[in-house]
Amino acid sequence: MSLTVSRGDITDLKVDAIVNAANESLLGGGGVDGQIHRKAGPELLAECRTLHGCKTGEAKITKGYRLPSKYVIHTVGPVWHGGTKGEAELLKNAYVNSLNLAVENSLESIAFPAISTGVYGYPKEEAANIAVQTIRTFLQKHEMEVVLVAFSERDEQLYTELLQN
Ligand code: APR
Repeated sequence: MSLTVSRGDITDLKVDAIVNAANESLLGGGGVDGQIHRKAGPELLAECRTLHGCKTGEAKITKGYRLPSKYVIHTVGPVWHGGTKGEAELLKNAYVNSLNLAVENSLESIAFPAISTGVYGYPKEEAANIAVQTIRTFLQKHEMEVVLVAFSERDEQLYTELLQN
């Protein structure tokens, strides 16, 4: 069981699955979503079209195509509306449902971006806390290598401090 932080680009990671911070259409977008689709190639979008979207907090799996990871787990984090619209629970669900999907597919390693903390505006500190707490609880019952990918030095510092507690 391991939870580690990795600084860099999630699309470079050779893990069983990388998690995509998608939107409910699952038809691509900006941010990490756009980068994953660009690197995976057009077959990813073609498979996503067959999934008919994904509700916020839920997760769906596709192949990784031209990515180094075998699979992509697409999840949709909440848009931040100030914290009074159930955002924390939805963000937790996005992590839990992605992890459960990895278990259902017998995956041994998974990497997460900082879901909802970009375009969706979730405060980084609170989101990092939810990510670490949720994954730690999951790892009490499951064997899996989980990587938190920090795209910025600030994110790396945040995660590193949390993992030292
Ligand atoms: N590798 C790892 N992390 C990355 C990468 C990358 N290549 N690119 C961006 N990130 C980080 C951002 O720095 C941010 O911390 O991923 C986090 C999530 O940011 P977004 O990609 O903006 O995702 P999110 O905030 O969940 O918004 C989702 O944005 O791209 C659209 O289609 C997507 O509508 C959806 C929305």
